[in-house]
Amino acid sequence: MCGIVGYVGTGAALPVLATGLSNLEYRGYDSAGVALADGDLDVYKRSGEVDALRAALPESAPQHRGIGHTRWSTHGPPTDANAHPHTGCSGDVAVVHNGIIENYDALRAELDADGHTFTSETDTEVVPHLIEAELETGASPREAVRSAVERLEGSFAIVVTIAGDDELYATRRDSPLVVGHGDGEQFLASDVTAFLEQTREVTYLEDGDLAILAAGGVTIERDGETADPDRETLDWEADAAEKGGYEHYMLKEIHEQPAALRQTLSGRIDPDAGTVDLDLDLPAEYVSSLEEVQFVAAGTSNYAARYAAELVEELADVRATVEIASEYEFSGGRDPWRTLTVAVTQSGETADTLSAIRSASRAGARTLSVTNTLGSTVTRETDDSLFIRAGPEIGVAATKTFASQVATMTMLSVALGRQRGTLSSDRASEVLSSLRGVPGAVQQVLDRADDVGEVAREHADADAFFFVGRQYGCPVALEGALKLKEISYDHAEGFAAGELKHGPLALVTPDTPVLAIMTDGSRPDATLNNVKEVQARGAPVIGASSHEGADRYLDVEWPVPDVGVLEPLVANVYWQLFAYYVAESKDRSIDKPRNLAKSVTVE
Ligand code: F6R
Repeated sequence: MCGIVGYVGTGAALPVLATGLSNLEYRGYDSAGVALADGDLDVYKRSGEVDALRAALPESAPQHRGIGHTRWSTHGPPTDANAHPHTGCSGDVAVVHNGIIENYDALRAELDADGHTFTSETDTEVVPHLIEAELETGASPREAVRSAVERLEGSFAIVVTIAGDDELYATRRDSPLVVGHGDGEQFLASDVTAFLEQTREVTYLEDGDLAILAAGGVTIERDGETADPDRETLDWEADAAEKGGYEHYMLKEIHEQPAALRQTLSGRIDPDAGTVDLDLDLPAEYVSSLEEVQFVAAGTSNYAARYAAELVEELADVRATVEIASEYEFSGGRDPWRTLTVAVTQSGETADTLSAIRSASRAGARTLSVTNTLGSTVTRETDDSLFIRAGPEIGVAATKTFASQVATMTMLSVALGRQRGTLSSDRASEVLSSLRGVPGAVQQVLDRADDVGEVAREHADADAFFFVGRQYGCPVALEGALKLKEISYDHAEGFAAGELKHGPLALVTPDTPVLAIMTDGSRPDATLNNVKEVQARGAPVIGASSHEGADRYLDVEWPVPDVGVLEPLVANVYWQLFAYYVAESKDRSIDKPRNLAKSVTVE
């Protein structure tokens, strides 16, 4: 995700900002920039890597204050103009921002009408213009920043610097910001990695805080009063810091899921009204006459698509199929004009999926991509694109992108259902309320990570692992097994629970733990029979469950909070943690499993 760095002090700002941006590169980004401030502002920004920005920077610069940013595109492609920092009309206010400003359209229209001129396609650019407008009314910089931020909806971490002023202003809502305290100099970052060479004395800001940083010290305003929050002293190694203190990127990304999901949903759903706004231009007539929604995807994305296909059938009342991308051909029996082919790919570069989508396009089907990567090949080759906004994923094993893919396609299913008139607003509200509850429910699962770790270590030497589930739980069983085999190199398989007795049951022994999903949306009553079958063969059964009474039949029960048809998605987080801790106990190369690559660009 995007990265922020800021500096104010007696030393030169430029080298601190440049080093900070390099330290943030591991987070993934597609453009970078800095603003150096004194009597006026100098802004440098470039699409591409921090090295491209460094080439555009002066060798040295006199300013003692500045802000920097690495951007991961959400609004507008990765161009120089869309890179941060953004400035207002006068060029005297510079802003860097992580997150999404949901009401930027309305604010931009208002500012446009007041004569402000915009130079980027970003949501961020409204912020410097709002601050500028407040300053013009005579507000102090501090008041101007406060008033501007009060008008913003969405999630953000924002840092502001103003020409001719001596301070940096920082505030946050649902997006991290940390202050670093030095001697005669102060630092700011979205992630301590940015300034770890400079100081290890930090204060984590809370939602709603306004931090005002001057060379001599930091003032934090909280609830209208000056606060004096505790400082922490970090003892992280640089390598651990890059991973946010986690041992592996995979674990960090598993724990990032609540934030990633919030970002996925931000500004797109209105559970009260039962409506979804995905900014898609699918013609109404085409949506009503659809005969098939056909998903094409590989690996984990294929399992996310299977989840989505069930949702599309249930909510939009249209046939939904899922094809393995490498097996795909646009085959007979389909009317291409009444088929929507959806490519699900976090990277947007998977060769098998691209080849499938090209085949669908050639046949005349309308195509849609669901991806995490703005500007990727798939977005250029499909008629429409839906961005899952999970932020960069570095661990080879997909985790947060799976969750954000399913969440995005849940919104798509509701949107199609509403547009087709097959989904009542009450049911849409119910599904969207469940969806809104998913980030919190995932957090509750994450809070039990230690418990999962203990159970995983107990079973780490098993002969094999079997994952079972029904309905929405079935793709999650497949995904659970894939995750475990990828990173632990153990034999793991996922089955539709009802299939056990048709063959796989022969493999079940006391040395093959069975992991079962017993939640809403996974026919827990029927699955209970399968649980009894495997228990009778001595297999230990671990259940992710919201089903009353299931505990009597489970050796281990992990609770899943009530989020309706999305409970299997939440249960999947237990499987991710389980896979992680089994692999960790075997000292596997978790972030880069043998023989695997993050982006598979060969067929
Ligand atoms: C598994 C995994 C892979 C990918 C697959 C498709 O953890 O990451 O199975 O899901 O290679 O990749 P994308 O989504 O980039 O098309």
